[in-house]
Amino acid sequence: MRVPPVCLLVVLVAVTLAACSDGSADDAGTGIPAQDPELVAAGEPLYQQHCASCHGSDLRGTDQGPSHLSVVYEPNHHGDAAFYLAVRNGVPQHHWPFGDMAAIEGLSDPEIERIVAYVREQQRINGFEPHQTG
Ligand code: HEC
Repeated sequence: MRVPPVCLLVVLVAVTLAACSDGSADDAGTGIPAQDPELVAAGEPLYQQHCASCHGSDLRGTDQGPSHLSVVYEPNHHGDAAFYLAVRNGVPQHHWPFGDMAAIEGLSDPEIERIVAYVREQQRINGFEPHQTG
């Protein structure tokens, strides 16, 4: 017997709702999938050590750098590759008035992967801020 597609949709919605109701999936509706908790946990101290001085310990930016919760950094606009490139090569000023970001030394690709997981998880939970300069 062929299962009509609408049935599959109903099952999917039910599964999604069930996932939300256990409290593990608090989601701001960004469409970002839940990140691997181990990567997120490992990414937090790396982010705090290497990125928070400019991007803020709460990711909401400082007078040295922009908020990673800005809509500018949603995955469709700045995909994960942008993070690897930013860390490896630095970033010339283009979206904000903070100046250039220098390359960050001493991070391996797996460490950057953990940082990205941490950032995406915070974006998923907190949602995005509108683009504000200054
Ligand atoms: C010394 C300050 C400083 C530090 C430390 C810093 N950043 Fe940045 N970062 C900036 C600034 C300033 C910009 C904004 C450049 C612009 O678009 O005008 C930026 C932009 C970015 C961008 C956007 C890149 C793009 O393509 O537009 C990413 C991704 C990023 N930073 C990731 C990181 C990560 C990950 C870390 C830690 C490993 C980090 N930054 C540490 C200052 C910093």
